[in-house]
Amino acid sequence: MSKKHLMDFRVAEVDSFGNGYSLLKLSPIGEEMPLIMGGQFVNIQVNKSKNTFLRRPISVNFVDYEQQLLWLLVKDAGEGTHALCQAEVGETLNLLLPLGRGFSVPAQKADSILLIGGGVGTAPMLYWGKILKDNGYNPRFLLGGRKESDLLELDEFRQIGEVFVSTEDGSAGEQGFVTVHSVMQSKIDKMYCCGPAPMMKAIAKIAAQKECECEVSLENKMACGLGACLCCVEDSKEGNVCVCTSGPVFNTKELKWEI
Ligand SMILES: Cc1cc2nc3c(=O)[nH]c(=O)nc-3n(C[C@H](O)[C@H](O)[C@H](O)COP(=O)(O)OP(=O)(O)OC[C@H]3O[C@@H](n4cnc5c(N)ncnc54)[C@H](O)[C@@H]3O)c2cc1C
Ligand code: FES
Repeated sequence: MSKKHLMDFRVAEVDSFGNGYSLLKLSPIGEEMPLIMGGQFVNIQVNKSKNTFLRRPISVNFVDYEQQLLWLLVKDAGEGTHALCQAEVGETLNLLLPLGRGFSVPAQKADSILLIGGGVGTAPMLYWGKILKDNGYNPRFLLGGRKESDLLELDEFRQIGEVFVSTEDGSAGEQGFVTVHSVMQSKIDKMYCCGPAPMMKAIAKIAAQKECECEVSLENKMACGLGACLCCVEDSKEGNVCVCTSGPVFNTKELKWEI
């Protein structure tokens, strides 16, 4: 288990995409960026909301060690994330990191790897894709959203691998859910997926039919992020486990999903 750090970060850049999404680029104050694995997350203190007492879990979107920048892609989903989206350059944010168990590299040589993200679930796929590429793999991405404006960071994804998109309204890429995208018909050795639970379950079912390995990143509600409060429990084949410490990434074979 990696050492946890409670660190202050300075907001170095905020890119607001509109449609309720903001990309925060944070630089550590007085310390080096810790080593972070793809799929791990941070628990972030929310300064600007008087009703948000608990930290909020946010996936690591990207780590730029050269420039010492940690990227977080935040969707305004409620009071806490709304306040985070309003962060201003120069502001200090306190983070607990790196948390959880991230994705794992394929056990055997995998020629065809597909990283699938739905909505803000695309966030962890950028950094994980970069790590896979740096390790000699050739990741492809399938990114889905309700509409074109939900598809974020496409240029960054394209720098890492081939990108396929789908939207529910057909405004970009193929129309429909990611599960019916034509790339799902291709040979796939390993899938990684993050998005709404119904989407991940549908992907897990396809993976089972294709007999390919599949890892999913769960977004259960969390509080402490450290395995102490038990509010993120998931039923697994090994019994109840805390998603914040045993996950958020699980091989779908570990979960008791009815698929
Ligand atoms: C491991 C992990 C990684 C995550 N990564 C990201 C990310 O990269 N970017 C991002 O924008 N969001 C991410 N989330 C979701 C984010 O943590 C929630 O949207 C946030 O905690 C909601 O807080 P709030 O104060 O804005 O909303 P609240 O006012 O607390 O709730 C608003 C709505 O969001 C729902 N909600 C609350 N907690 C969660 C949750 N954990 N997951 C989904 N819905 C929730 C509530 O049921 C409610 O409907 C992640 C969650 C987890 C567990
Ligand atoms: S969030 Fe507290 S145990 Fe997982």
